[in-house]
Amino acid sequence: MAVSLTDPWTLGGVPLPNRVVLAPLAGIGNWFVRLQAKRYGAGLAVSEMVSSFAVHYGNERTCRELLRIHPDEHPVSVQLFGSDPEVMASAAERVAEAGADLIDINMGCPVPKVCKTGAGAALLADSERAVAIAAAAARGSGLPVTVKLRSGLRPDDDCGIRTARALAESGAVAGVGIHPRHASQRHSGQPDYALARSLAESLPVPLLISGGLRDAASARRAFAESGAAAVLLARGSLGNPWLFAELLGRRDEDAGPTREEILIELDWVMQRAVEHLGEERATRYLRKLYPWYVERLGLTRAEQKATLSVLQTAPSLGSVQEELLAAAHPLAA
Ligand SMILES: Cc1cc2nc3c(=O)[nH]c(=O)nc-3n(C[C@H](O)[C@H](O)[C@H](O)COP(=O)(O)O)c2cc1C
Repeated sequence: MAVSLTDPWTLGGVPLPNRVVLAPLAGIGNWFVRLQAKRYGAGLAVSEMVSSFAVHYGNERTCRELLRIHPDEHPVSVQLFGSDPEVMASAAERVAEAGADLIDINMGCPVPKVCKTGAGAALLADSERAVAIAAAAARGSGLPVTVKLRSGLRPDDDCGIRTARALAESGAVAGVGIHPRHASQRHSGQPDYALARSLAESLPVPLLISGGLRDAASARRAFAESGAAAVLLARGSLGNPWLFAELLGRRDEDAGPTREEILIELDWVMQRAVEHLGEERATRYLRKLYPWYVERLGLTRAEQKATLSVLQTAPSLGSVQEELLAAAHPLAA
């Protein structure tokens, strides 16, 4: 019988209640964004990428903010990036102490600032180092390790597939997440789910599929076409935690959240941001999140634009809340 997204499974021995996972999202996937995904049913949430160097050298803000794990978000995976096995082993040890259940290593980030240090997608072309880094993370932490990678660096380059095989066959990783776009595509273009399927069928460890999962229908399609063990929700989940519940059959896929549900959720996020960052930093941080929620409110384009412009220039969260109340009224009337 075909595997369903609601079926439980284990990843590196960690029991997971279902196959819908929050993907790593840099600058976004902190403890409360992960907790939000869990509240809507995510079986696992992966952190934003965290520098192994910053953790190894004890960077205060990185350790305090990016390694913060909420007691209710387990199981949780912390994603590290780096290029030095010894540094990775030491950072992974800190991540285990912080309470992570799994470690994921970033081998897919195409950003030059990351790749020029030999980390992220640069590791796709160096499978020996990739294996050494994953093995070091496992040794340092004692936790199961997964990797998230791309199919290759450029079109017609399959170094990511070869590195995935080398990692799985070395025994260093318990699972592989693949974003089957090559690194030079960044985040655009159609992901190659057929390529992912050929990898899923030949890997000795579970494959998690990423890329193009913008709504429930496209996530189901990627799951079916790739034959992966689980889906990694990324951009489709931004301001849309309801997507987890839809994929798990806990919400009607055709009826989006009501305006009231969206505003209550945004209020939850705002409170958590203040808890995490303090009011002043939260006021700035939340500016990048507002568009994700406001575009779902069913406002006219002009109303949306006006609301966003007020939210993004509001001097305090109190004035943001007043504006949101005003935005809520047209529908309530
Ligand atoms: C803003 C943003 C930040 C991301 N940060 C990370 C990251 O820290 N680590 C990682 O492995 N992938 C990262 N990704 C890639 C996503 O996890 C995912 O693979 C990609 O967005 C493709 O999925 P999608 O088309 O469903 O969005 C990021 C993507 C975006 C858009």
